[in-house]
Amino acid sequence: MTGAEERREALVAVYREASECTLCPLAQTRTKVVFGAGDADADLMFIGEAPGAEEDKRGLPFVGRAGGLLNELLAEIGLDRDSVFIANTLMCRPPGNRDPQPVELDSCRPYLLEKVRLIEPKVIATLGNFATKLITGDQTGITKVRGRPQTHQLGERTVRVFPILHPAAALRTPRLRETMSEDFASLGRLLAEPAPEQGRTAAEPPEAPAPEAPEAQPPRAGDDQLDIFAP
Ligand code: URA
Repeated sequence: MTGAEERREALVAVYREASECTLCPLAQTRTKVVFGAGDADADLMFIGEAPGAEEDKRGLPFVGRAGGLLNELLAEIGLDRDSVFIANTLMCRPPGNRDPQPVELDSCRPYLLEKVRLIEPKVIATLGNFATKLITGDQTGITKVRGRPQTHQLGERTVRVFPILHPAAALRTPRLRETMSEDFASLGRLLAEPAPEQGRTAAEPPEAPAPEAPEAQPPRAGDDQLDIFAP
């Protein structure tokens, strides 16, 4: 098995565990867990806020209007969603799309860190305030930090973090669309740079223990249709 296949298999095991998660109250109101989608071997990982109505229905991230804009922005830098990995701070939809609550972010964070650990992205683009604050551990607002790369230690991995406005912000305020294009162009340039050297940096976000390694399970009916990691 190649490294990429092993990575995907490990991620599928985490997906199976996550799809039955009951760690926070959102388990009672969600339709589907939105684990994340794309390439398990991606250099670029996006972290958004939380699933909306369409994502909750389909079990896939960024498939509503914000997702349409994300697809456009990716195309501007010669990428598509199958060549990146897209996740969120929360895997379940907060009712009425309200803000994520601390107990929800704390419950989901080990899953998110496990995705980062397995995918080993070179760059993490955080979309909006919630993802940026969670990953950087810094409460400065997104409008102040957007468009400038940072380096952070996430678990064992040193990664470049690139904060960007959330696509929903540009849907609400069309003049921000241009800013988003500029930030995506910078993101494309950052991706072309060498990966950061591995080793601990001063800035560490709050850590939580990784979820326990799930036991190996036989394939389940429908797994091949999940389409969570590959086109
Ligand atoms: N907004 C997000 O932050 N994530 C999604 O998956 C969809 C919309």
